[in-house]
Amino acid sequence: MLLIHETIRIHLPRVNQDIVVGNNFIPVLTKFIKDGQFDQLLLVVDAKVHESPRVKMMAGRLKRSLKIPLILLADTIRKDYNQVGRVLHRMRKFPLSRQSCLVVIGGGHLGDLMGFIASVYMRGITMVYVPTTLMSQGDSIIGKVAINFMGEKNLIGSFYSPRYTICDANFLDSLSPRQIVCGLVEVWKHAIVGRHTSLLGKVEHLLITGQFTKLPLDIISESLTVKTHFVKSDPYDANGHHRALSLGHTIANYLERDPMINHGEAVAYGILFAALIARRMQKLKKSRLESIVDTFGLFHRYVEKDRRVVKQMTSSNLLAVLSMDKINTRGCYNFIIPTDSGWGIARNVGVELIKDVVSDFVARVNAL
Ligand SMILES: NC(=O)c1ccc[n+]([C@@H]2O[C@H](COP(=O)([O-])OP(=O)(O)OC[C@H]3O[C@@H](n4cnc5c(N)ncnc54)[C@H](O)[C@@H]3O)[C@@H](O)[C@H]2O)c1
Repeated sequence: MLLIHETIRIHLPRVNQDIVVGNNFIPVLTKFIKDGQFDQLLLVVDAKVHESPRVKMMAGRLKRSLKIPLILLADTIRKDYNQVGRVLHRMRKFPLSRQSCLVVIGGGHLGDLMGFIASVYMRGITMVYVPTTLMSQGDSIIGKVAINFMGEKNLIGSFYSPRYTICDANFLDSLSPRQIVCGLVEVWKHAIVGRHTSLLGKVEHLLITGQFTKLPLDIISESLTVKTHFVKSDPYDANGHHRALSLGHTIANYLERDPMINHGEAVAYGILFAALIARRMQKLKKSRLESIVDTFGLFHRYVEKDRRVVKQMTSSNLLAVLSMDKINTRGCYNFIIPTDSGWGIARNVGVELIKDVVSDFVARVNAL
């Protein structure tokens, strides 16, 4: 049975993106493909979900009704430049044309990789995306995609959206609590920058109860509504509105050099760090800092505690990495920060202040 909780339509300059949040991706995807009259389809499936009976059923249906050239199983997904070359090579060999469509079912790494490929192949072909992790559903691709390059995260990218994104909550049942918690971090980020108190309350409630099965669908749709607001108001990021969505990501880029830390965990640490910067710069009330610290504490319950890259963070290591960050220009350190009104940019943050915050941050984390 199809249960659509919400459809969010986003008008972007080159595409209208429909995001469907519900509990059965099959009818929506089947109809989209039937109506689209594509000449070829390429189905790309994350290896962790390809055994799912519903994915198998969908693949079988596609095979029967359409010329489907390839089911590519993405087992180790690296969203890097070399991987892009390999996939493009196979796409060209079939060949896929501008009337072809990529059907992508998987987590955020696969989504970003294939989204980037869809954006550059013949200057852009259609993609429909079924995100299968909470991270990739609650913070789904809206307006931009990126891959890693020379060890740097998200260095190369495009402004691109899948035509359809179908969030099917049933996929979340097979995620571990750690994966759920990591996805909730991005929802928390949206609640902070969007000043969405009821969403914040829902995130905190889940973290307190630990009830991670059958997540309420409005967590996903409310999170996406906040993200949509920022992208819609500035589709090409000409006025810097997308930066709100990078809250916590500057420090996350530093921490993710440790492969044991995953993206969501790193962003949670990054949000705490940014809040400490904001407080010292008088941009955040004490009570709002305390609220962020408290919620961070709830997340921290679920995080592997022995993270050397966090506990042994030094200002010299951090500053070396920060100087390479996209948000920084030479010699100036900028941070996206939570503020009393939502979010802001702290520009030209002094080295002494960063050093103080590193000490405060490490002390707080070690005390938890
Ligand atoms: N372009 C964007 O707007 C955007 C938004 C959010 C995240 N991202 C990117 O997404 C990446 C993180 O995404 P992620 O957290 O989904 O990581 P991921 O894609 O690596 O998925 C995490 C793990 O879960 C597995 N998996 C996928 N679906 C599953 C399921 N239903 N059950 C069990 N296991 C499953 C995957 O195979 C993988 O091993 C980062 O690179 C981030 O930059 C991009």
